[in-house]
Amino acid sequence: MSGFEARNTHFDRLFATPNLFWLGQNTNHLPMHPAVRRALIDAIEAEEFHAYAPPGGFEALRRAIVDDLGLPGASTATLVTDGAVAALATVCRAFCEPGTNFVTTDPGWKWPMQFARQAGAEVREIPIYDPAAGYKLTVKQLAETIDRNTRIIYLVDPNNPLGIRYTRDEMQSFCDLARGIGAKILHDCTYRDFAEQHVLAATLYPEGAVTSYSFSKWLGLAGLRVGAIVANRDIIERLASYATATLGCSVIAQRAAQAGLAVKSEWMGEVQRIQRRNQAAIKRAVDKIPGLSLPVYPSHGNFLIVECAKLGVKPEALAAMFAERGIMIRQGSYHTPRFGARFIKVSTTVPTEWMDAFCEQLPAAIEAARGLNDVPELF
Ligand SMILES: Cc1ncc(COP(=O)(O)O)c(C=O)c1O
Repeated sequence: MSGFEARNTHFDRLFATPNLFWLGQNTNHLPMHPAVRRALIDAIEAEEFHAYAPPGGFEALRRAIVDDLGLPGASTATLVTDGAVAALATVCRAFCEPGTNFVTTDPGWKWPMQFARQAGAEVREIPIYDPAAGYKLTVKQLAETIDRNTRIIYLVDPNNPLGIRYTRDEMQSFCDLARGIGAKILHDCTYRDFAEQHVLAATLYPEGAVTSYSFSKWLGLAGLRVGAIVANRDIIERLASYATATLGCSVIAQRAAQAGLAVKSEWMGEVQRIQRRNQAAIKRAVDKIPGLSLPVYPSHGNFLIVECAKLGVKPEALAAMFAERGIMIRQGSYHTPRFGARFIKVSTTVPTEWMDAFCEQLPAAIEAARGLNDVPELF
C-alpha cells in the first residue's frame, strides 16, 4: 500500500472504531452548545446548501471573526477557508517561491512546511525543544536564521505540541525582526483561546502579520472544515486570488461557526474549566510514575506533552498500546523527527471520563509498551 493509501486507511479505521477516545489531535469532543446544534439543523432544514456561499465567506461571519480577534474592523479583512490548514496553504502559495525561505520552529506544525517547499521555498527549522530556553524560540535564534530572502516567519503560538506561548515583549521583538527584512509573520493561533494572555502579532505588526484562524479546537468543528485568514485589507486582496475556495466554503459549517461566536464567552468558560481539570488529572497521573514528566505545565493549548524518554519506552509503542485500549494519543514523531522519540501528546478538550480512562490505563500501557519494537505505522 502506498504511503498515502496507508495513511488514509489508518484514519478511516480510527473513524470506524466504535467509541474511540480521541485524545490525539487536539480536537474538541465536548458536546456542542445548543445554539450551534440549532444553527446546523436550521441550515440543513432550510436546505441553504444548494447555493454556493460568497467566495470570502458570509459577511456576518467575516465581521465576527475580526471582532473576535479584537482587530480594527476598518483596516482588517478576512477570508473564510476550509479550515485553518487551507488558510496556511493559501498564504504559503502566495508568498513563497524559489529563492525565498520560510522560517519556523521545531517542534511545530508540519503541513505548512510542506506547502512552503511545494511553492519552492527553502524551509529553515529552528530547534526549540530546550528546557534552558523554556521550550521557546529566542529572539537571538530568530535573528540568526532570517535574512533578506525570508518571506514567512511561521509562528505556531501557542505552540503545538509544546503548549508554550510568547509574551508581548517576545512577540514585539519577533515583529521588529520581521519588519526589518520585510517578511510576513504567519501567526498560527489555532490554540489562542486556551492560552493565558495571548498576544496577537497583528496588533504589533498590522502591516505584515497574517493570522490563521481555526474553529476546530475551541468550538469543536474539526470535521466541518471551517477557518479563516485574517490580515490587513491589502494582504487579503492579494491572498484572495490564491484561495482555493473560489466557490465559497461550506454553508453549514459557516452557520455553525457564526452561532459559536455568538455564544463564545459562555461556551469557552465551560470548555476551559473541563480542559484545565483534565490537564491537572494528567499531571497527577504522571507525577506517580518515576521517569515520566511534563516539560510544559500548565499548557497554553488544549493538550500536554508527556516525556517518556527516561523510561526507555518508545512513544510509538505507547501510542499503539493505548490504541489497543480504544484510546488515540499522538506520538511525538508526528510533530518532529528530531525530538519525537522523547514524548507523546494528549488532548484535553475531551469528556472527563475519557481523560480518567487515559490516566488509569497509563501504568499498564507503559508496562505493555516496554521493549515493544515492532509497532504498526502511525501517522
Ligand atoms: C497548529 C495548527 N494549525 C492548524 C491546524 C488545523 O486547523 P483546521 O482544523 O482549522 O484546519 C492544526 C490542527 O491540528 C494545528 O495544530
